[in-house]
Order: sequence, then C-alpha cells, then structure tokens
Amino acid sequence: MATFCGSTSHLVLIFHLLISLCLFAPRVEAAPRAFFVFGDSLVDSGNNNYLATTARADQPPYGIDHPSHRATGRFSNGFNIPDLISQRIGSEPTLPYLSPELTGRKLLVGANFASAGIGILNDTGIQFVNIIRAPAQLDYFKQYQQRVSALIGPEKTTQLVNNALVLMTLGGNDFVNNYYLVPLSARSRQYKLQDYVPFIISEYRKILLRLYAMGARRVLVTGTGPLGCVPAELAQHSRNGECATELQKAASLYNPQLDDMLNGLNQELGRHVFVGVNTRQMHNDFMTNPGAYGFVTAKVACCGQGPYNGIGLCTPLSNVCSNRDVYAFWDAFHPSEKASRLIVDQIMVGTTEYMKPMNLSTILALDSNLL
Ligand SMILES: *[C@@H]1O[C@H](CO)[C@@H](O)[C@H](O)[C@H]1NC(C)=O
Ligand SMILES: *[C@@H]1O[C@H](CO)[C@@H](O)[C@H](O)[C@H]1NC(C)=O
Repeated sequence: MATFCGSTSHLVLIFHLLISLCLFAPRVEAAPRAFFVFGDSLVDSGNNNYLATTARADQPPYGIDHPSHRATGRFSNGFNIPDLISQRIGSEPTLPYLSPELTGRKLLVGANFASAGIGILNDTGIQFVNIIRAPAQLDYFKQYQQRVSALIGPEKTTQLVNNALVLMTLGGNDFVNNYYLVPLSARSRQYKLQDYVPFIISEYRKILLRLYAMGARRVLVTGTGPLGCVPAELAQHSRNGECATELQKAASLYNPQLDDMLNGLNQELGRHVFVGVNTRQMHNDFMTNPGAYGFVTAKVACCGQGPYNGIGLCTPLSNVCSNRDVYAFWDAFHPSEKASRLIVDQIMVGTTEYMKPMNLSTILALDSNLL
C-alpha cells in the first residue's frame, strides 16, 4: 500500500476510487433503517402533548438543553434515549406518531408511538386518563403500515418494517403507577409481589408476540432501572439515601424474569429478535460510582423540590441545577441527557452483562452483511 500512496499515477488512483465507489455505493446510498419506538415516558418524544392528560413534559425547564431550547414533550433536559439511538444509526429523530408533521417521506424514518404513563397492563397509569396504552400503540403501528403502504406499496413496507430497529420500554409504571401507586392498592391486594411479576411478564410476552406478528425483527427491550433508588422514591422512603426496599425487590424479581422470557421467545422463534437491555445494571453503575461517569450525584434530581428534589413534578417553579451533565437524574424519575447518552453507549458496545444476547453495534454489523 506504500506504493499506492507514494507513486501511483492519477489514473490508477481514479480506477481504485471507481472500484470502491461501485463496491460501496449501494450501502452509502441506502436510507438508514427505520426506527420504531413503543413504551412509556422514558421514550415518549411528545405524543402526550396531543392528548388531554396531565402526563406531559410541555413546560420549561424541560428541553432546556434541547437544540430547540423548548419543552418538546421529552422527559429530559435535552435528547432522550430514542433520539440518541437515532443519531447512532444515522437517522433523524423519529417524530411522535400524533405529530401533524409526520406525513409523506418522513414516515419512512419511522415513528414514535410511546406515551408517558402507560404500562404493560391496561389499567396502569389510569389516573392519567387519556394516554396511548400498549394495545393502542400497536393499533397505531398497524395504521402506520397502511399509510406507508399507500406511499411505497405493501412489499416495500414489509421490508421496511422487517429491517427496522425497534425500541420497547415498558414495565416501570406497572409498579410505580399501579402496584405501589397507593398503599394497599387494588393490585397489591389481588396479587403477592412474587405472583404479580410473572403475571405482568406473561402479559408483556403477548405484546411482544403481537409486535413480532406485525413484522418487527430487531427489538431492543429495556428492563426496569433500580426502581427504589429514583429521587421520587428516596424522597418518600429514604432517611440516609438507602433505596426503597419493596421497589428494589420488585426490580430484582422483574428483570431476570424478563430476560428469561425474552430468551424463551427467541428460542421459540428460532432467531434473535428480542434483545434485553440491562438498564438496571447501567443505573447501578452510576449509583455505585457516580464520579467515574462525571456525576456529582446519582440520587438528587436536577429539577424538582424537597428532599433529593424528588417531591412533586419538575415545573417552572422548581429548583434547577446549573450543570445538567453532572446529574444522573434530570427529574424525580427520568435520566438526564448525559445519563441517557451513557446508557446508549452501553446499548451500542456493552458486553453481554448489559446487552443480551448482543449489543447494537453487533446487530448493525450482522444486518448489514445480510444486505
Ligand atoms: C387490554 O386491552 C385490550 C384492548 O384494548 C385487550 O385486547 C386486552 O385483552 C387487554 N388486556 C388485559 C390484560 O386485560
Ligand atoms: C459489543 O460491541 C463490541 C464493540 O463493537 C464488540 O467488540 C463486542 O464483541 C460486542 N459484544 C457483544 C456481546 O455483542
């Protein structure tokens, strides 16, 4: 190769360029794969702004670090996890499905169907009234496919959906906004925790199978974080910064059973469709050693009030930290953009401790070889 750089003629150089252009042209020109997002507030990019519900992030200081500097409906100071994944796969951010801007060719980028407050169960987040629950998100996905089909035809639509990346984030609210919503909730009287977890996992399995039946073939499924350690729970249950025991127990039962369920589905389907994202371990890392990730705290929220800034909502009247990058939590429940960035780094290159059975960079490499 030394001679190639040192002494080849221009003609040979052009010849080489042409060859490499021909070899790589199809991949360079190929549109980035579509991206679909389903789930709750951790991944909602603004659908709830179009709905009559209180579960919204539509006021400052939400969005303070977003390029628009406006509250976009994302539960973040800036970008959220779906935005950062879009950036990594070379796509524009997916628009909320309810956005009037989501028309024409923009549909081909994908869509975000997530809605803050929802859970695996239909009655989770019932206090938020008008939100898009999981079955309705999938109904919208069907409608989306019909709209795309009218644009590019049914065959190309199936291809687009089969080749797409999907992110699914559910489950946290089935504890926080259902089982543990109030002391002695109807659910907690109906089920012991050790029976409730397998119940919601079996309901989740049905949702994922429906998603598969609708054409999804690469689905990132996030577990729940350490639910008892979020600022909202610390504010209510913690004297010395220790995490709330019951919710920690819930997360420690739920996450391994989710892993087993995903693994079972993949075996049944005979392919690696579902990829478990161990967000609990990722958050545990921040809490164990915040400094190693550039955080001054993984307990106190940047925006809020009361102990740990964990009481009530993040509003224009709340305390807001000046440097959002040194807080793992933006508000009482949701990660800062910086924490989301670190999570997406692990999604890209994490070991099997974080990404089962494989990380996103491996998936992208595998799938591009299939083209
Ligand atoms: C949730 O609602 C959908 C219809 O909206 C229904 O098909 C499904 O069975 C419900 N799930 C449960 C667990 O009741
Ligand atoms: C994850 O990504 C890294 C870097 O791309 C790669 O070396 C590693 O083998 C991957 N691990 C798994 C389990 O896919």
